Amino acid sequence: MSMMASMNPAIDDWRGKYVWIIGASTGIGAATARQLLVKGAHVAVSARRQDALDELARSEPQAQMLPVALDVTDHASIVRARDAILNGWPRIDMVLVVAGGYSEMRADSFDLAAANQLIDLNLRGVFNCLDVALPLLLRQGSGGIGIVASVAGYGGLPKAMVYGPTKAALINLTESLYFDLHPKGIAVYQINPGFVDTPLTKGNDFPMPELMTAPQAAQQLISGLERGAFHIHFPRKFTNSLRLARLLPYRLYFWLIAKVTRL
Ligand SMILES: NC(=O)c1ccc[n+]([C@@H]2O[C@H](COP(=O)([O-])OP(=O)(O)OC[C@H]3O[C@@H](n4cnc5c(N)ncnc54)[C@H](OP(=O)(O)O)[C@@H]3O)[C@@H](O)[C@H]2O)c1
Repeated sequence: MSMMASMNPAIDDWRGKYVWIIGASTGIGAATARQLLVKGAHVAVSARRQDALDELARSEPQAQMLPVALDVTDHASIVRARDAILNGWPRIDMVLVVAGGYSEMRADSFDLAAANQLIDLNLRGVFNCLDVALPLLLRQGSGGIGIVASVAGYGGLPKAMVYGPTKAALINLTESLYFDLHPKGIAVYQINPGFVDTPLTKGNDFPMPELMTAPQAAQQLISGLERGAFHIHFPRKFTNSLRLARLLPYRLYFWLIAKVTRL
């Protein structure tokens, strides 16, 4: 791999591309689906709520979005969804795993059942999707897989004692996948949003710096895919500050994050 080349192939035309977005009934996934459809891609959208997916598909009547329900914690439902999609499509060029949840947790209110639930969704759910998507992509020897992690995976943050580790694991996972898939012609994207105004962040009772709208986040996400970036993160000022903080000695890192978050 040349050190100067982009880490994944650039995409300059979405027409004729088949994109499956998992976790697309609301928020970043739904906005990404809408924008890719407008750019001419074939888009299949998945999440648990069929009614929300149908509604999303109806809201974009200019082109056909394919709504296919699944639950990422239920492996068989992902297999059924893949089969349903491939019933109508010749292939799947790109799988974007966006599905995820958030629940804040601190050491003095640790809830093992809630922790396991979040791990099942944010981490095991992604592995369930990989198990279904990887054989497809490997057989094709083309296409790509993008996984939405979070800036919360860069380093430990207050209130994120379960969410943070699930997202840190996804960051590590995409790095590991890149070693295996890039040589086989398959693109891998690590996608780390900062704060985005979606149902996921509705309950946050603290100020969210540099909060973006879901369409803004989708635009950044798609622009990263088009550039052929591996590490797609936004908004840059916020994500780069966190990445820089991560390089500080721990003593300074803990001091800075506590001061900035007041948590
Ligand atoms: N918003 C932020 O500030 C932010 C920041 C960093 C990272 N992220 C990450 O971005 C991703 C999308 O979040 P969002 O902010 O767009 O939130 P969102 O609007 O709540 O979207 C989450 C999506 O995942 C789906 N989903 C949830 N559980 C599922 C399951 N078991 N099986 C299949 N689909 C499931 C939801 O649909 P159903 O309920 O219909 O299943 C929904 O479509 C998440 O991974 C999140 O961690 C968000």
